[in-house]
Amino acid sequence: MSEAVQTIRNALFERFGERFDVDPALPGLDELARMAARRVHRRYLARDVAPDLLRLLCACALSAPSKSDLQQADILIVRENERRVAIADLLSGMPWVREAPVFLVFLADGRRVPKISQMRGKPFPNDHLDLFFNATVDTAIVLATFLRAADAVGLGCCPISVIRDHARAVSELLDLPEKVVPVAGMCVGWPADEGGISPRLSLATTLHEDRFAAGDLTAEIDAYDRRRAALRPYRNQRDVARFGRAEFYGWSEDKARQYAAPLRADFGAFVRAQGFRLD
Ligand SMILES: Cc1cc2nc3c(=O)[nH]c(=O)nc-3n(C[C@H](O)[C@H](O)[C@H](O)COP(=O)(O)O)c2cc1C
Repeated sequence: MSEAVQTIRNALFERFGERFDVDPALPGLDELARMAARRVHRRYLARDVAPDLLRLLCACALSAPSKSDLQQADILIVRENERRVAIADLLSGMPWVREAPVFLVFLADGRRVPKISQMRGKPFPNDHLDLFFNATVDTAIVLATFLRAADAVGLGCCPISVIRDHARAVSELLDLPEKVVPVAGMCVGWPADEGGISPRLSLATTLHEDRFAAGDLTAEIDAYDRRRAALRPYRNQRDVARFGRAEFYGWSEDKARQYAAPLRADFGAFVRAQGFRLD
């Protein structure tokens, strides 16, 4: 069995708890192996990422498909140390933002399309939720494509959605104009360790055929909690002061605790204030 086939089978077993048959004659197995075994990296070597390499990866990321070819995603490279430190100071719980050799911000840009309508003397009756949604989806695809490009050259990354906890402050630091909002930041660097595969919900939960299969979600989540805890138990329990110490602390307990506190309740107001209409 080729190394790529072995990697794919092992990674997907760890990820989904399921054995996959992989045809060794398939083209592109090395790429599939990288995708199957990918993982977040939050620790980096003290080694720069050459600006030319970063530009190349950004160009590959921005080669991602784009809804109606509207091209509503931008990438902002935060180079100036002062700006970088100011962002890292806002996210003190995430030291990797300060430590990563490179920090990027992926932006949903809903500004260009109305500008084009104005330039060409056309009406723009589409200033509603769809503008924000399309720009955000395009940006998420560019972000995912960047992850894949970075992975291909051996770089490690960690997307940072927590910048949206400070969306206004980050937008001011980066001079974001009207109708441009940060979707996520991204730490990039040469990985200092291997990291590990994060198990996912079973495909019985997240992969549907022909019609939505609601299934026995409680049983699937319980089973996932157990499978995941055997491979990657949580080191710390969240919010013990409020919820106490659980005897068994699985993924669902962690996510339920995480979402028992209001998160970014002001984000809609921020997006509106940035000039998007969300109706
Ligand atoms: C859109 C997005 C935002 C994320 N935001 C953060 C973040 O703010 N801080 C962080 O440490 N990790 C963040 N992550 C990383 C996730 O925690 C990580 O992908 C998840 O735990 C699964 O692990 P894996 O990527 O190794 O499969 C983010 C990931 C995505 C896709």
